[in-house]
Amino acid sequence: MTAHPATYFGDYQNEIYLNGLGGVLPTMPMTFAELERRAQSALPPSVLSYVAGGAGDERTQRANVTAFDRWGLVPRMMVGAARRSLSVELFGHTLPSPLFLAPVGVIGLCDRDGHGDLATARAAARTGVPMVASTLSVDPLEQVAAEFGDTPGFFQLYTPTDRALAESLVHRAEAAGYRGIVITLDTWITGWRPRDLAAANFPQLRGHCLANYTSDPVFRARLAKAPEEDPGAAVLEWVRVFGNPLTWADLPWLRSLTDLPIVLKGLQHPEDVRRARDGGVDGIYCSNHGGRQANGGLPALDALPGVVEAADGLPVLFDSGVRSGADVVKALALGATAVGIGRPYAYGLALEGTDGIVHVLRSLLAEADLIMAVDGYPTLADLTPEALVRL
Ligand SMILES: Cc1cc2nc3c(=O)[nH]c(=O)nc-3n(C[C@H](O)[C@H](O)[C@H](O)COP(=O)(O)O)c2cc1C
Repeated sequence: MTAHPATYFGDYQNEIYLNGLGGVLPTMPMTFAELERRAQSALPPSVLSYVAGGAGDERTQRANVTAFDRWGLVPRMMVGAARRSLSVELFGHTLPSPLFLAPVGVIGLCDRDGHGDLATARAAARTGVPMVASTLSVDPLEQVAAEFGDTPGFFQLYTPTDRALAESLVHRAEAAGYRGIVITLDTWITGWRPRDLAAANFPQLRGHCLANYTSDPVFRARLAKAPEEDPGAAVLEWVRVFGNPLTWADLPWLRSLTDLPIVLKGLQHPEDVRRARDGGVDGIYCSNHGGRQANGGLPALDALPGVVEAADGLPVLFDSGVRSGADVVKALALGATAVGIGRPYAYGLALEGTDGIVHVLRSLLAEADLIMAVDGYPTLADLTPEALVRL
């Protein structure tokens, strides 16, 4: 506990301990392991296998998590880190923390009311943690953006094969007030996912999370009948247009779509980062999609230092395997500008809706803040690779 008068993320623990004095215990889990365990009973089996599962035998997914264990933070004493800041500048916005909510395509289905995209946007509004809203959502991107409050939001684009549809989605995101476009490169085709294959279940093929398509004028114009009248035909059209195997030759076109900041998601090779940079993107997103797409890969954390070096000053967003405040601090020390949360917030949502996500984010931030206090790294600028040793 701190006697310092300012408000810090770490003060969340004071709130919890003080509630305890009044006999009130937290209803949400305090560790990721417990969060995951309880979410397993809260989610319907088909949604759980889609969210929790990954590619192949999920070795890469597990390696994303264990990669953090191979780094140790070196504590520094007598720093007097009573005043701390996790604030960060990103694309012209001053954010209270370096966290963001990574795009999760079935997040809509993870809330009991079936509107998890809106619940996530409300958590973004309450915490100042930006949401990257997926192309695959239950509610159209305009309705999601309407819940952001003062927190900037970003739109994640799965680039369709139909360029007119891609343009329409990007222009809708601009009009709805999104502050940047995150273009995901690693999912123009679905990876081999045994859990989903065993259940022969792929939510989008069952018509879920396609609202951005079925509400789109360009998409609708391609259909003989409105999606409300013939949902099956809309799904078939979605299958036809969903995945665009982009090449670097497409980058000038993608860049020309908008003046908003563009971020390329899924980069891990330094040479790809240099090409993205040369192509005029505004940010790099180092991620392996949480190990959902290709098994047998390196942990995203191990790719991060090379990506940061090649990015040469461009902001680097990072996700894949972040499960604790300590993980957040380590990713920042390895050069990430902002750190994305994936499955943990889906599980928080499954348990207690918007409140559940807010708890997950506040817990991550509290732990990160308290580690920075105890270990003597009061600001993000103090967190450099020198704060870490390889174990
Ligand atoms: C259920 C699920 C759906 C996802 N959908 C998308 C998506 O629509 N677009 C995207 O770019 N990434 C998507 N991702 C990947 C996340 O943005 C992020 O890269 C990943 O969750 C990070 O790994 P972690 O969950 O293990 O931390 C999805 C991830 C999960 C778990």
